Amino acid sequence: MSLLREVMAKKEYQGLNEDFVSSVMSKFYGKYDFSKKSQKTKFLKEVRAKLREVYGAFRARNYDRRWKFLEELEGWEDKEGVEKILKVHLSSRERIGYHDELYKWIREYVDFNSVLDLGCGFNVFSMPWMGKVGYYGIDINKDDVEFCNKYMGRYELEWGVRWGNLLTFDNFVSSDVCFMFKVLEGLEGVDRGSTARLLSKIRSHYVVASFATRSLGGKKPISARRLKWFEELVVVVAKKKFGDEIYYICKR
Ligand SMILES: C[S@@+](CC[C@H](N)C(=O)[O-])C[C@H]1O[C@@H](n2cnc3c(N)ncnc32)[C@H](O)[C@@H]1O
Repeated sequence: MSLLREVMAKKEYQGLNEDFVSSVMSKFYGKYDFSKKSQKTKFLKEVRAKLREVYGAFRARNYDRRWKFLEELEGWEDKEGVEKILKVHLSSRERIGYHDELYKWIREYVDFNSVLDLGCGFNVFSMPWMGKVGYYGIDINKDDVEFCNKYMGRYELEWGVRWGNLLTFDNFVSSDVCFMFKVLEGLEGVDRGSTARLLSKIRSHYVVASFATRSLGGKKPISARRLKWFEELVVVVAKKKFGDEIYYICKR
């Protein structure tokens, strides 16, 4: 079996894009001597750990109940209903309670009717607060993409979510604003410089990017001072902390 097949043999990784897995693998190749079985095992472990960090770590224990919660929704703007769904994705769960404030704050600076959401996860389910906009999401997690599209299709919400790898994606729709919520550091960890490349490729007028100020699950605080590299890439219009996240509204 090829190394790529071996990494992807686990169910957790089957919905991933092969190019993406290959680019993660290429980061670690040089460290190991593949003639030794123990080294190969270590390599597989390290690659899977990295994949989990950037992609797989977001499923809450009741992730499988998302379909039932979707079934029970009383409309696209059913806030109580979508909160149940947002809670099964650890990344969007941390934002519950702040959606109203967050989107009001963004709208103070950006008047938007269309959104491009990179590494979107379940963020389309914040539409009851975001507003009914043309929404185009991109994510590498096939299960999540399919799930988000079920919601959008059921309520005839415009555009959709697409399965794609941000490290290689080229053809971004033009939109009033582009969200990059808690995704850039994961991408930089796989491919340094990917934020600058993304910023040069997107065609949106404004970017709203966010970064965690606490490790996933609220365990350890992480200082926002580490974000100087990002501040140097963009023109920051406003910056604000909501919960365990720091948000930047930027002009490209
Ligand atoms: C920390 S979560 C953030 C999700 C969402 N933006 C939010 O804040 O609720 C990171 C997301 O980026 C996606 N992702 C990671 N690497 C990606 C890549 N190379 N291309 C597209 N999506 C990616 C993951 O599948 C995951 O949904």
